[in-house]
Amino acid sequence: MPQQPTNAPARAGGVAAPPSAGPVHLTINGQQHTLQLAPWTTLLDALREYLNLTGTKKGCDHGQCGACTVLVDGRRINSCLSLAVMHEGEEITTIEGLGTTESLHPLQQAFIDHDAFQCGYCTPGQICSAQGLINESKARTEDEIRELMSGNVCRCGAYVGILNAVKEVVDKQSLEHRR
Ligand code: FES
Ligand code: FES
Repeated sequence: MPQQPTNAPARAGGVAAPPSAGPVHLTINGQQHTLQLAPWTTLLDALREYLNLTGTKKGCDHGQCGACTVLVDGRRINSCLSLAVMHEGEEITTIEGLGTTESLHPLQQAFIDHDAFQCGYCTPGQICSAQGLINESKARTEDEIRELMSGNVCRCGAYVGILNAVKEVVDKQSLEHRR
């Protein structure tokens, strides 16, 4: 006979009731938020549906397009594949936290300069991913940048502009580090 989990009330028919929503504490772009979330809420849905941070896009919702990329403690992740509750106590950065219209992030400026924006749907994820790549300090050459940005898909084919924009910022930062 099937066992009932001891921490969940049984429903008629012997099926356990799903866990209810509870408080989740998230630090996003330097601000603390407490949300009432069901435990299966993805970080992506928490951002978009509960905090109205819609810069992070839902493309495939299956970890295949990179549109939902955000930074967690400086590391890039696909927020569609990660539960919000897993990120309590970590620093989450979305595209809204990287730059402002008055003070663009260097990657945002480089994307403008290299015409790397097309539809814009994939761009926030591309920029967050590029910042993660810079944080990793692993990519120097164009081939390495292409390889390490390969998780971010651009359906309209702005790859050359994106590559040039990321390369420019990578080059500038490695020059500054050598000074
Ligand atoms: S929406 Fe997350 S990888 Fe596509
Ligand atoms: S900029 Fe969105 S698909 Fe290329």
